[in-house]
Amino acid sequence: MNMYIGNIKAAQKVAAVQCKFVEPKVAISVIGLGYVGAVSLACLSSLGHRVIGADIDEQKVDSIAWGNSPIHEDQLADLLTRGVSEDLLSATTNLKRAVRETDVTFVSVGTPTSEDGGCDTRAIKAVAKGIGEALAAKNEFHVVVLRCSVPPGTTLEIMKPVIERYSGKVAGEDFGICFNPEFLREGTAVADFHAPPKTVIGVTDPKTARVLADIYSPVDETPIVTSVEVAELVKYVDNVWHATKVCFANEVGRLCKPMDIDSHAVMDIFVQDTKLNLSPYYLKPGFAFGGSCLPKEVRAVSHLASTLGVDVPMIDALIPSNQEQIDQAVALVEQTGAKKVAILGVAFKPGTDDLRESPVLEVIAELKKRNIEVSAYDPAIQPGPHIEQQFEYMRFAAPHLKAVVECLPEFMKEAPADAIREADAIIISQNLPGLRSVLKSKKEETVIVDLVRISAPLPATSNYTGIGW
Ligand SMILES: NC(=O)c1ccc[n+]([C@@H]2O[C@H](COP(=O)([O-])OP(=O)(O)OC[C@H]3O[C@@H](n4cnc5c(N)ncnc54)[C@H](O)[C@@H]3O)[C@@H](O)[C@H]2O)c1
Repeated sequence: MNMYIGNIKAAQKVAAVQCKFVEPKVAISVIGLGYVGAVSLACLSSLGHRVIGADIDEQKVDSIAWGNSPIHEDQLADLLTRGVSEDLLSATTNLKRAVRETDVTFVSVGTPTSEDGGCDTRAIKAVAKGIGEALAAKNEFHVVVLRCSVPPGTTLEIMKPVIERYSGKVAGEDFGICFNPEFLREGTAVADFHAPPKTVIGVTDPKTARVLADIYSPVDETPIVTSVEVAELVKYVDNVWHATKVCFANEVGRLCKPMDIDSHAVMDIFVQDTKLNLSPYYLKPGFAFGGSCLPKEVRAVSHLASTLGVDVPMIDALIPSNQEQIDQAVALVEQTGAKKVAILGVAFKPGTDDLRESPVLEVIAELKKRNIEVSAYDPAIQPGPHIEQQFEYMRFAAPHLKAVVECLPEFMKEAPADAIREADAIIISQNLPGLRSVLKSKKEETVIVDLVRISAPLPATSNYTGIGW
């Protein structure tokens, strides 16, 4: 290589590195300085951002402006003091000034339970108005980030229109909009900020995604970028899951005590199973549970609790919740108006001929009650005496399925194409091998009721439906 060009390239490289090094970090305003906002403010300043906190509570603002923590939270006071002494952190009651003087605004006002049990978004609306008015007087691209826990739709249908109305600007063009849920745990919030369980960025435009990814890059280099609505719901789903775990463990504890069993010994073993217990397994929406174990054992535990005089409302709710999934499948078929229905997959899961308490049998029983003609295919099932024996096993659990099991040979077909040929609707309860090519032979107008979500992305046609999608 020519020496001169080589030198230029080397110089360019150094300049690029230096340029990257001196590039100023975005300035961030944080509106709402409670448990979430105060921690975000302090932690963002610790990453080198100039930050301005804003709140309507003068006492909080005063406290933070002096570098004092308004709440009890490990390490927070130290970070606030450092931020103020380094001239990176300030606080004000003037929201509009905070927005005008920064590039990005985090909104972390309270969203308490409303009178009707929902989510009170009044503080978000009030803040959105102020942000809109501030943006009206600003020319630069500004990013607004909602951090409150809210129902899906709040960011784009409640906050965004108010900002657009009062700023006269358009989201995605003149300013960016983002939902970025907060996963901190009070008590370890500062540590959680610096080592987050995940970073979720819900956006409608790539420029905003980049701004957020840059902010979080020192603590998480692989943020999850998704739609705003998914990000909003993830936060709720996470917390409902945590609550579910707490109630589940507590029900196990209540069950253990009268039997003099150490509940912690039970759960210590339970959590060691990261293959089935604490894992993604069983955690994708799909069809109802069934088979020879789950329904039987859920019933047995409910029965055990009742004989011990222990209330386990969550465990007791599992069978009704499962039944709802079966009812939904039947309702979807009914909505199609189909008179002939084909079912692909009859056992409770693929790869087994175990029909015991398969929820598909429940669906068949309901369809037959409605005089709907059923045909079915399952590569693992050959009707015969062993099937009748399986019924013996669930004689007390599901006596109403006897009739279905008995007439199984009448509606089971040798090949999937035989099952679907005349069908007005096809229920897919298993993602069988070769399914896609089989479905090509269906009548065009035949509706697919997909209970297991065979495709991604989902077909955009009215002839396709599912329970959770
Ligand atoms: N606390 C947590 O651990 C946690 C964790 C994750 C998410 N969240 C969510 O974050 C949001 C904030 O929670 P929090 O616990 O920090 O609430 P908080 O009640 O402690 O703080 C809210 C702050 O917003 C201020 N505020 C209200 N209206 C305002 C306005 N118009 N302008 C400026 N400031 C205003 C209040 O004065 C208060 O200081 C909520 O949606 C909450 O559900 C909280």
